[in-house]
Amino acid sequence: MSATRLRSSTRNASYGEARHSAEGATAASHQPPATRRAREGWHGWDAYAPFYDWENAQTLGRRDVPFWRRVAMQAGGPVLELGCGTGRVSRPLAEAGVDLVGIDRSAPMLARALARRNTAGAKAGRAPTSPRFGGTRPRLVRGDIRALPFHPRAFAMVLAPYGILQSLIRPRDLTATLASIARVLRRGGTLGIDLVPDVPQWREYTNREQLSGPGNGAHLTLIESVRQDPARRLTTFTQRYVERRGRRTREHCFDLTFRTLTVPQMTHQLERAGFAVQTVLGDYQGRPWDDRADVWIILARRLRG
Ligand SMILES: C[S@@+](CC[C@H](N)C(=O)[O-])C[C@H]1O[C@@H](n2cnc3c(N)ncnc32)[C@H](O)[C@@H]1O
Repeated sequence: MSATRLRSSTRNASYGEARHSAEGATAASHQPPATRRAREGWHGWDAYAPFYDWENAQTLGRRDVPFWRRVAMQAGGPVLELGCGTGRVSRPLAEAGVDLVGIDRSAPMLARALARRNTAGAKAGRAPTSPRFGGTRPRLVRGDIRALPFHPRAFAMVLAPYGILQSLIRPRDLTATLASIARVLRRGGTLGIDLVPDVPQWREYTNREQLSGPGNGAHLTLIESVRQDPARRLTTFTQRYVERRGRRTREHCFDLTFRTLTVPQMTHQLERAGFAVQTVLGDYQGRPWDDRADVWIILARRLRG
């Protein structure tokens, strides 16, 4: 989700009333077209890249990282992270000794992950160009998760943190991705999925100021609109970042769209793709899932192939 879009409850808690006060301030000049539809779930992420870490630091932060580290440490082989983005999860996992490969379609998101990876490598005393990665640095690959560019059974575990599977906005995208994961995952290997369930319940709004403060050497303001398409289970966030540097103001506009299935629907899709759901959790501390959980974590095992 915007990885951050999906953390609505976290954001609400962090920003409380302040974010509502400026709501609608610029509504007249920037109405998102009501009929605009996302063409692909990966659209928007290139434009979002410069702002992702800034926004994320104020919402989810790294709260999910210890959970994924614990899970990944049990893989017993290479681990693939789908939609690794700026390396928020992949870097700490690699630093903990996980043999990690991260894949993402967005070059600007990966560029940030690469910068992070090389910083970590420099701290560990390795040249940024060192061919030896496992143990401290994730390997980063540009590609689409619907057609994973890896050998069959190359991975002992595949992780899909922070709503990445919700970026698959058509049923056929999810089907292709699960088939692709099943191909690259060893028999008995674990697929870990984190879904952000409350997105379809967000009220629609237009041009609401959500965040504001210093960032990227400038002053940033995020103005956001939300549209729901219940028939297709889609939620679209139109984001407008206003970047002020001294007297200069630049605006960056983009849409991010997510498709949210229920746990039973996702379970059905997983079973069809050859997985057995082992565990469904409702938070990163391991509480069992129920209808009110604001996080859905599914751990599934690959059965056949
Ligand atoms: C919510 S971010 C998650 C980033 C990172 N895993 C984290 O937790 O911070 C989703 C990422 O998935 C990537 N993405 C979306 N659709 C994709 C696709 N079809 N193939 C590969 N990457 C995709 C985006 O570029 C973005 O970096």
